[in-house]
Amino acid sequence: MLSAFLLLGYLCGSVPFGVLLTRWLRGVDVRASGSGNIGATNVTRVAGKKLGAVVLLLDALKAVLPVALAVHYLPGDAKAHALVGLAAVLGHVYPVWLKLQGGKGVASALGVLVVLVPKAALAGAIIYGLVVARWRVSSVGSLSAAVVAIATAFLTAPSREYVLLTAGLFVLMLWTHRSNLLRLARRTEHRL
Ligand code: G3P
Repeated sequence: MLSAFLLLGYLCGSVPFGVLLTRWLRGVDVRASGSGNIGATNVTRVAGKKLGAVVLLLDALKAVLPVALAVHYLPGDAKAHALVGLAAVLGHVYPVWLKLQGGKGVASALGVLVVLVPKAALAGAIIYGLVVARWRVSSVGSLSAAVVAIATAFLTAPSREYVLLTAGLFVLMLWTHRSNLLRLARRTEHRL
């Protein structure tokens, strides 16, 4: 049963909405412009705020769906919920459809936390909004949000597995943002 949910999580997460919608609606490849990332931030740069918001929503929902199903059908199994959430984010980062070259997993991680640790999702979203409003750098907002999410999960998560998941997602965010961290160090990071 768990392996079916893990597969579902991975496959849902691997749907590259940023690539599909920018190609279908604007006729461009989001990977060829801006930061080259397939996520909502770069879709906003390449195709505008409205499409960016749609991609943000869909990238979050594709993680909400499998995790919510896992919570429903595997009640009380926090480890399984956390693993399905991780599978969904890994699907976004390493999608089979894009030769494992996916996005950074921020919106998908947000979707996972919305289901499992909603207060961490809310705190992260607020911090992201504040940081980006002030400095206009999405990567700084994402990594700040991930740090705040860990602290909030530590204080409010109903299980140790959810805290470990939130910490694991932060480590994954550090890895997926390695090019951003390099650009930040060189003061050449893209702005929103
Ligand atoms: O959500 C990804 C964001 O943190 C960074 O995106 O396009 O600036 O690399 P980007």
